[in-house]
Amino acid sequence: MSDDTFFSDALSRIKPSATMAVTDTARRLRASGRDVIGLGAGEPDFDTPANIKAAAIAAIERGETKYTDVTGIAELKQAICDKFLRDNHLTYTKEQVFVAPGGKPVIYDAMMATLNAGDEVVIPAPYWVSYPDIVALAGGTPIIAAARQEDGFKLQPDTLEAAITPKTKWFIFNSPSNPTGAAYTESELKALTDVLVRHPHVWILTDDMYEHLTYDNFVFSTPAQIEPTLYERTLTMNGVSKAYCMTGWRIGYCAGPLPLIKAMGKIQSQSTSNPTSISQWAAVEALNGDQSFIAKHNAAFKMRRNMVVELLNNIEGIDCLTPEGAFYVYPSCAGCVGKVAPDGTKINSDADFATALLEAEGVAVVHGEAFGMSPFFRISYATDEKTLTEACSRIARFCAGLK
Ligand SMILES: Cc1ncc(COP(=O)(O)O)c(C=O)c1O
Repeated sequence: MSDDTFFSDALSRIKPSATMAVTDTARRLRASGRDVIGLGAGEPDFDTPANIKAAAIAAIERGETKYTDVTGIAELKQAICDKFLRDNHLTYTKEQVFVAPGGKPVIYDAMMATLNAGDEVVIPAPYWVSYPDIVALAGGTPIIAAARQEDGFKLQPDTLEAAITPKTKWFIFNSPSNPTGAAYTESELKALTDVLVRHPHVWILTDDMYEHLTYDNFVFSTPAQIEPTLYERTLTMNGVSKAYCMTGWRIGYCAGPLPLIKAMGKIQSQSTSNPTSISQWAAVEALNGDQSFIAKHNAAFKMRRNMVVELLNNIEGIDCLTPEGAFYVYPSCAGCVGKVAPDGTKINSDADFATALLEAEGVAVVHGEAFGMSPFFRISYATDEKTLTEACSRIARFCAGLK
């Protein structure tokens, strides 16, 4: 299509998901015969647990294959209420709960339901790639607040304070973080909620997607739990994609003030309609059933995290923090920027670093620019140890070859 007037202005405000693009490139190179290690994907390498699959199969056999309530079945809403009470000491009624086809549509519906032109949304960087684009697509203005490596990639209260203006409608909070793995302790979170208490016009969208993926006895907390006065203006979001290894099933959920939940339901009723009926029944089993596999997975993730951090920190030019959670590390490649690869390519940025690394060694990582903070790159360590060891030795060889 050559006529640009055909496409909406909204389309020009966004770019395709960089993480999905890296995964696609790795897949394409592999299909063409290249030996490529993909460290770009944001999903566990473990299979969906058998009890969850069995619940889905049983739902099919029972004929649970029709439209459901737009915002989710009552059984799943009850399981979500129970989960919020059990894990986060938050009380919600079923009417305050909203289920969507993934965590991403929850954020999308919340922004579509609330943003007008000129509304600002404060987003700490490094951020999950989709936040600014969803905000922009919904007509709002993303305001990026830097969470620096020297602060463990955690937003400082004065930075949050400085980012808030009379136009701020939302603050999007994500802990443990994609892409850094940084997770806020109770006191670190309290320092942020103290700021938010002083700005009653700001709503909080907390993306707790990686809640269960923390290591070293880290204690997870969420804003409405830490500061109950924020309950009235907090949308607490979560999902089964990561902890329950259900990325393909597409179930995300949230709970919050009733008028907001109703508005989001209106959007969903005119977009996707209900999330897949079968996946909803699988999610009921995920939330209500055996949780013991999470600790087993976390033991594996922790071992991999420690291994990757150590291997990366042995490489000259790379500097990597040990994050508290998720399955990502976010190393700095500042020591490589300004150097030249053996094929003559100058490394001017983290994007150049990632491209040259893929070309030279067939290792796919996501450049930090995509997450709003350079010069870094993201590695997903949700893959087996042999592959991770090989990937790190290739990164080491690549960095050693830079002049
Ligand atoms: C921080 C964060 N939020 C939300 C999502 C979206 O999850 P879902 O796959 O359920 O849409 C992801 C997925 O990568 C994520 O990393």
